[in-house]
This record gives sequence, C-alpha cells and structure tokens, in this order.
Amino acid sequence: MFRTHTCGELRMADVNTEVTLAGWVQRIRDLGAMTFIDLRDRYGITQLVVDEETNELVTTKLTELGREFVIQAKGTVRERSSKNSNIETGEIEIALSEIQILNPAELPPFTIQDNTDGGDDLRMKYRYLDLRRNTVRENLILRAKMAHAVRSYLNDKKFIETETPVLIKSTPEGARDFIVPSRMNEGEFYALPQSPQVFKQLLMIAGFDRYYQIVKCFRDEDLRADRQPEFTQIDCEMAFVEQKDVLETFEGLTKFLFKETLNLEIKEFPWMPYSEAMEKYGSDKPDIRFEMLINDISETVKGKGFGVFDSAEFIGAICAPNCATYSRKQLDQLTNWVKRPQIGAKGLVYVKCNDDGSFKSSVDKFYSQDDLKQWADAVGAKPHDLILVMSGDRDKTLSALGELRLEMGTQLELRDKNIFKPLWVVDFPLLEWNEETQRFHAMHHPFTAPKPEDVHLLDTDPGKVRANAYDLVINGVEIGGGSVRIYNSELQATMFDKLGFTTEEAQTQFGFLMNAFKYGAPPHAGIAFGFDRLVSMFAGLDSIRDVIAFPKNNSGRDVMIDSPSPVAQEQLDELSLKLNIKEKE
Ligand code: AMO
Repeated sequence: MFRTHTCGELRMADVNTEVTLAGWVQRIRDLGAMTFIDLRDRYGITQLVVDEETNELVTTKLTELGREFVIQAKGTVRERSSKNSNIETGEIEIALSEIQILNPAELPPFTIQDNTDGGDDLRMKYRYLDLRRNTVRENLILRAKMAHAVRSYLNDKKFIETETPVLIKSTPEGARDFIVPSRMNEGEFYALPQSPQVFKQLLMIAGFDRYYQIVKCFRDEDLRADRQPEFTQIDCEMAFVEQKDVLETFEGLTKFLFKETLNLEIKEFPWMPYSEAMEKYGSDKPDIRFEMLINDISETVKGKGFGVFDSAEFIGAICAPNCATYSRKQLDQLTNWVKRPQIGAKGLVYVKCNDDGSFKSSVDKFYSQDDLKQWADAVGAKPHDLILVMSGDRDKTLSALGELRLEMGTQLELRDKNIFKPLWVVDFPLLEWNEETQRFHAMHHPFTAPKPEDVHLLDTDPGKVRANAYDLVINGVEIGGGSVRIYNSELQATMFDKLGFTTEEAQTQFGFLMNAFKYGAPPHAGIAFGFDRLVSMFAGLDSIRDVIAFPKNNSGRDVMIDSPSPVAQEQLDELSLKLNIKEKE
C-alpha cells in the first residue's frame, strides 16, 4: 500500500499505530535536537518528527529535503507534547522510522500557504501550484459539491442529462462567436456554442420533456470579474409548462443548493417586474439586501429657476441614511466618482438634512428651506440623512443613480456577503433598440415568446412588447436567465422579421428550427444559470476566476499554457487559411 492514511485523518485514537503517509513537504523546522516536517496532502497536514531516537538513515535523508518535495514517510503515531488546536491532526505527530523521496522539487515561485506572497500573474502562470493552496482548492471542492447537488435535484425531478455538440453553427445570444475552421469543408466554419439554446428546444420537440446539462459555453466578449470567454451553465428546458412552473422548479433548485451547501433556509423569492427594477433600483439586477430606493422627484424640483433641473428629462434622488455628516471632501469624492466615464454623470446635487430640521444643499441659491423640505418629504428623508440627486436623460440617470446606490450601500456596509437575497426579475422587454445598427435586437434571444397580451403591439410599437422572460438575481448579480419560447413557426418568422432578418437569412440560419416547429413542437420554456457565478457567490468571492480550475486572464489568455498562440503554416495550409495580419512596425 502506498499510504495507510491521508495527512488529514490521524487522531489520538491512532496513537501507537504504525502508519505510512505520502504528500508534499510544506515546511521543515530544524530546532537542533529535533526537526519537524509538516507533510501536506489534499486532506490536511500532519507533523512528522525526527529526534535523537530516530535512526541515522532518516536523519541523513533529512539533509536532502526541501519545500514541496514529494515524500513517503513511515512511522508511529504519538501524542504531541505541545498541541496545535488550529489543525485537525494537531494532537498527534509521527515519529519517523523511514522516509523516501519520491520526487524532489524546485523552490516554488511563491509560498504555498493560505496567504501567499504570489501576485496574480505568477499564480496564474503556475496555477497547478496555486491549486495546491487550501483556499483555492476549497473553492473547487465547493464547485464539485454544488454540481453534484444540482445533478441530484434535477435527476430526482426526472430531467434527462443530455450532451449537445460543441462544434455547431452560430446561435445568436448577443455576443461574438468563437469560430473553428473546418479542414474537410474548405472555407467553412463551425461556431462554438454561446449556449445549447436551439438544441435544447429541439430536444423538447423530440419529446424529452425535461432536459439539463452542466455545460461549457463560449462567448467572445470583453472580460470582467463575472465573465470568462468559456464558462459553465446549468442549462435546462421543460415542455408543457408555463413561466410559473419553471420559476418554481428553479427556485426549488436554488433553495436546495443553499440548504445542501451552506445549510441556509431561504424564503420565497419575490417577483419584480423589469420596469420596477429599473425605476427603483436603476438596474435590471437589483441588490435588494438594502433599501435606499430611487425616487423620481422631477415634479417637485422643477420650475425654481435652476436651469440644469428645469431642462432635464428626469430628476431622481436617493436618501443615504445618517450621512448628513459627510464632509466636503467626502461629497467631492462622491461627485468625482459619479463623473467617471463608467458612470458618466454630469454632476451630483446634495441636501444635508440637519438635526435641527434645517437643510444645507449645494443648490441653496435656487431652493428655499421650504422647497428642500418638500424634497425631503418626497424621498422620505429624516434629520441626519443625506439626499443625493442626479438629473438628465431618464434611462442614463436611473442607471447612474443605481450605481451610486450600490456605492453608498458598500460605503455604509449594507451589502453583507453572508446575507443572500434572491429575486426573480420578470416581464423584460422583448426587443431593445440599438442606436448603432438602427434596428431592434432581441433583449434575451430571438426564441423568446412575447406576452400574449402584448403581441398586438408587435406591428405598432415593438419596443413596448414585454416578453415572457425572467432572470434570477441574487445580491445584485444576474445568476440565471430564461424564457418561455416561441413554438410556432409563423410567430418565429415574424420575430426574425422584426429583428431585421430577411426571409432568406432566417431560413439559412434557422431553417432547421422553423422546420422542426412544423413537426409537433410542444409549448416549452427553460432557463440557464451561470454556474461559475453561482459558485463564486456561494463562496463569497468577487471573481468567477477563483472558482475555475484553469481560468483565462483579462486579455482572454491562459498564461500557463500560453494560449492563444500562433499555429504552424502547415496547419493553416491544411485549413486553406491565409492570415492577413499587418506587420507590426
Ligand atoms: P444568458 O445569456 O442569460 O441565457 O446566460 C445565462 C447565464 O449564464 C451566465 N453567463 C456568464 N457567466 C460567465 N461568463 C460569461 N461570459 C457569461 N455569460 C453569461 C449568466 C447568465 O445569467 N440560452 C439562454 C438561457 C435560456 O434562455 O434558457 C442563455 O444562455 O449568469
């Protein structure tokens, strides 16, 4: 046997047992008469000890040992004289009788400990060493545990796990495709799936009734903390269901995951229409852990001679509780913060609600104390509160106020990572006007069904049509999204038409789907969760990179394997590809 035990399992009950362990040398402490070695494996750390009673063979070997060497160690378990309550094996140690170096190791470029001295780039380059660290590995163990729980819940509910192809044809999910040239079909390309959307719909037509897959998806989009070019979805589809059935099933899954992995009971998820999310939170993914809602105060503040407000389409305010004591410097910082290009506001007006019932504002010149009292009433401000006001184009101002609300929530520590507040955002618009292309785009994707009561607006006022689409949002993060689907080829053709596809284009790209609709498509609906986002939220992390074993960096590179990379000319020739890259000067 290579080892009799792991490095995490020996206890007082094992004292006097002869054991063999194997693992990596975490640390060697030479105290003269005694030497201690911390031996580490996935399961924990066990202390090995060499003292005057240890045989010479072992003591000689000791001189060769270094950090991260892989060794096999034999010895007897004994009680420690000074115990360490921080580790589970802290009451015992192993008196060594034999030691074998299985593989020496070079000095690692950073310390393999919970708090490492390695920077991000270095850790990514040596990701296999980073993954040896407990904190990183634990995130991946949580991921595995959650994947297991997902399968168990969905299998129980009779979902069939089905794999769909990775070399496919472009699916319009809104991002750019990664494409793969075909050697056997000169000049033609596969696309990697942005999601298995059309396949899961075809599986419904095939009568599978309930499908799921924990599946890799690929999107060539700009990267952020919550976006990777390849990421994982829990992808699902159900036949003969309405929106309510899907939400019930996946609210059930979410609650099950909270219970199984974090032992948390989460109450029923509220439903919030998209329009309300935008008006009150300035975002389609509201963080409802705290209030500080946006108020439309346009009517209250206009007409007093302050040009900026008088000419604005919209004036909105939030009330930051107990912030009337903010200093000039803090207010300037907030103003600069909203003026950054990411937020893009022109300025910020404030009103301090003093304890004596008076007000101090940055627009005192235009507004009397009575006027400001009206503002305070409109936003429900009390003495000691701070009112923050922004104005301009309605949508942009709402979204800027939404960002400011989140910033204030963070400053006031109202966004506790250990509190989880999920909700369903429903009734998204079906279509979104794109200024650049001067046409409508599908807000979710082109297979999403309009609300039956809004279908008549498709011809007259397409921008007003609401969709049977929904998102699961937790703590301000979009965890999942889905919709009830169109299952009628004529309505699907109308949708393509509204999205600016010619009949031929629609036929070439999606003829197979519209054709399939003609062979008995059941009503169906589905959803996909971003699995990486879900795991990182459960782990209390800010970036999904920390829950992916081998992630890409912000330029979409894997710095460990150095990818993407150029390929040999022969490979390009086989694919009949010619590069047209301008020489760098
Ligand atoms: P959607 O495009 O909303 O829907 O994607 C579903 C969920 O996937 C996650 N996600 C990502 N996670 C990490 N990196 C990315 N680049 C990334 N892009 C998306 C998000 C998102 O909510 N086919 C539809 C689902 C359906 O209609 O059933 C779809 O893919 O958490």
